[in-house]
Amino acid sequence: MDGKKRILSGMRPTGALHMGNYLGALTNWVAMQDQYDCFYFVADWHALTTDYENPRSMQTFVHELVLDWLSSGLSPEKSTLFIQSRIPEHAELFLILSMITPVPWLERNPTYKDQILQLQNKDLSTFGFLGYPVLQAADIIMYKAQGVPVGVDQVPHVEITREIARRFNFLYTPVFPEPEAILTHTPKILGTDRRKMSKSYGNAIFLSDTPEQVRSKVMQMITDPQRAKRSDPGDPDICNVYEFHKLYTRPADAAQIHAQCRGAQIGCVECKKAMGGNLIQALGPIHEKRRYYQEHPEMITEIIAAGSCKAAQVAKQTMQEVRAALKITY
Ligand code: TRP
Ligand code: SF4
Repeated sequence: MDGKKRILSGMRPTGALHMGNYLGALTNWVAMQDQYDCFYFVADWHALTTDYENPRSMQTFVHELVLDWLSSGLSPEKSTLFIQSRIPEHAELFLILSMITPVPWLERNPTYKDQILQLQNKDLSTFGFLGYPVLQAADIIMYKAQGVPVGVDQVPHVEITREIARRFNFLYTPVFPEPEAILTHTPKILGTDRRKMSKSYGNAIFLSDTPEQVRSKVMQMITDPQRAKRSDPGDPDICNVYEFHKLYTRPADAAQIHAQCRGAQIGCVECKKAMGGNLIQALGPIHEKRRYYQEHPEMITEIIAAGSCKAAQVAKQTMQEVRAALKITY
């Protein structure tokens, strides 16, 4: 190893990534590539915990996710990109960790309770769903990751991972470092209807949207709800369009728009057109890379094969230590 701190993170393959996923997670992953020894993986088994009834789209979703990653700048030269199910050692470690994980740790997991309430249309009274954090712990400690870049919603899972690692080290022999969550900065952008951006709300701008789709979604965005007429002054600080300006418009221009909005000197249509143009321009390189990989799908297959091979080497080594710790060496 080259002395860089190792980090690991994963995403479930549940469909196209949108700007919320991109700004909330992916840009941070991309930025961390130079500083850390990064392992990023597709958590396809984790997707099964909630979507076990409908695995049909899995292959497409896995492919789409890796395509979104590569388009956004994750690089196979810098990071190890792999798929969870390609490394069966995750299942073996999950099984062993399940022996030492007290059920109450899982039952009191806030994400567990919350998801059961939110996904009432699904039967989540399964063993696999309860064990979600144990599989996640296996994912993380398999690579002895020191850091796990995640959003706040995943912090309880990293906390359980630390507890499981500590318990393993205490019961047998110290094998695993206790990983820390790396909380990443997330701009507060919303969906086009001002609710949280989400695929299921139909309010998302996707990385895979064409410039025309981006433009039309931007034009539909709800702005400052108090600003009914062009002659009404607006409040850019509560306007989602302005949040995008902050990210994609030159600071001097954004400042001018801010003042013009407050003084009712710019209309929302004009303001959105300017923002949409800048956004589309910023997405240009992403679209370009996407086109490239779409024309060379075999490269995606190769990248995943190479990444999975690298991950497998680490996993094999760790599992030897785990089996030795458990005296399963016969
Ligand atoms: N639970 C994570 C999510 O839903 C995905 C995930 C699975 C993960 N295993 C992981 C994230 C390991 C970080 C590390 O977003
Ligand atoms: Fe929002 Fe721009 Fe309209 Fe102001 S002018 S309310 S910032 S869209």
